[in-house]
Amino acid sequence: MIYLDNAATTLKKPPQVAEAVLRALQTLGNSSRGTHEGALDAAHTVYGARVKIAKFFGCARADHVIFTSNITESLNIALCGLLRPGDHAISTDLEHNSVLRPLYRLETERGIAVDFVPADRQGCVNYADFERLMRPNTRLIVCTHASNLTGNMVDIRRISDIARAHGALLVVDAAQTAGTRPVDMEALGADVLCFTGHKGLMGPQGTGGLCIREGVEITPFKVGGTGVQTYSKTQPEQYPTRLEAGTLNGHGIAGLSAAIDYLNEVGLDAVQAREAALTRRFYEGARTIDGVTVYGDFCGDRAAIVALNIRGCDSGSVSDALSQDYGIATRPGAHCAPLLHEALGTKAQGAVRFSFSWFTTEDEIDAALYALRELSQNNG
Ligand code: ALA
Repeated sequence: MIYLDNAATTLKKPPQVAEAVLRALQTLGNSSRGTHEGALDAAHTVYGARVKIAKFFGCARADHVIFTSNITESLNIALCGLLRPGDHAISTDLEHNSVLRPLYRLETERGIAVDFVPADRQGCVNYADFERLMRPNTRLIVCTHASNLTGNMVDIRRISDIARAHGALLVVDAAQTAGTRPVDMEALGADVLCFTGHKGLMGPQGTGGLCIREGVEITPFKVGGTGVQTYSKTQPEQYPTRLEAGTLNGHGIAGLSAAIDYLNEVGLDAVQAREAALTRRFYEGARTIDGVTVYGDFCGDRAAIVALNIRGCDSGSVSDALSQDYGIATRPGAHCAPLLHEALGTKAQGAVRFSFSWFTTEDEIDAALYALRELSQNNG
């Protein structure tokens, strides 16, 4: 199989990841739940991963790195833990449902108000809109670093400058950028950086987290056992325990930790350059195929994602044909990004998304272009 669905999850992982998970399965006890060898091994594994992740994302404090099961949980924790009744939030048309649905729920259940910065037909936002939508009670802006549908990057620094000037917080969804380029929360000006382990970081599914700037106080989304302060009726105040009720995914975290070691070894600049070259090669080929419409803005920096359609063909049928006739894995449909499909005019058709990784080869890109050319001719 030629796997070009890396924006959904990376399938090819560095071999060290599986080795670390297997070793952890055979050795780890429960972190923070005792002092026997297995429990200490788990505690060291988790703490080591926290330190590594803090450095990887430029988070000043390792104890402000919180582990979750995926970025959807991270975003729920951040949004539900920061927004209070009467608050106003700003987001964008580019967002995934992992941002949109918590916001819609908070609108209904907590009476918060939300405004969305619109996207144009290329899936780009106008940064002046963030300034325009600011209100005195704007508590936060929540924004993706790169669209999971078009791959368009968002200039987070520009948005953080606006947020800071108005005393608002900035929550960043780094689902499509973490592990594929340097992502430094200090440089971006992010107050909370949410990430997932199974995409660009090339770790196991069931891992993710958030990095929190010192001084940002998030109310727990879930409460429960922590292994400390057992006789207190309330959740411990200190991070990371405050936001980590229940047993952590120590086995997955061990794999994620190994994945980060691998990325540090190859270097994020090298990953970014390789993925950019592969994406450019695919885009240049796809845009010249008669009948193919490519979505997004390809002028500047972008994530390793290209979404397209062949004439009026249903995106699901094209993706099925790619899989069944050519052995090429892509994602069709609506990509959990409803507002962006409306902006692009692809609500009914969806789009076929090709997404690349460090392990994608030029031959795989060329095979995908060949398949697209044939499919387009056959549907002409
Ligand atoms: N959020 C993932 C995607 O974009 C699953 O495909």
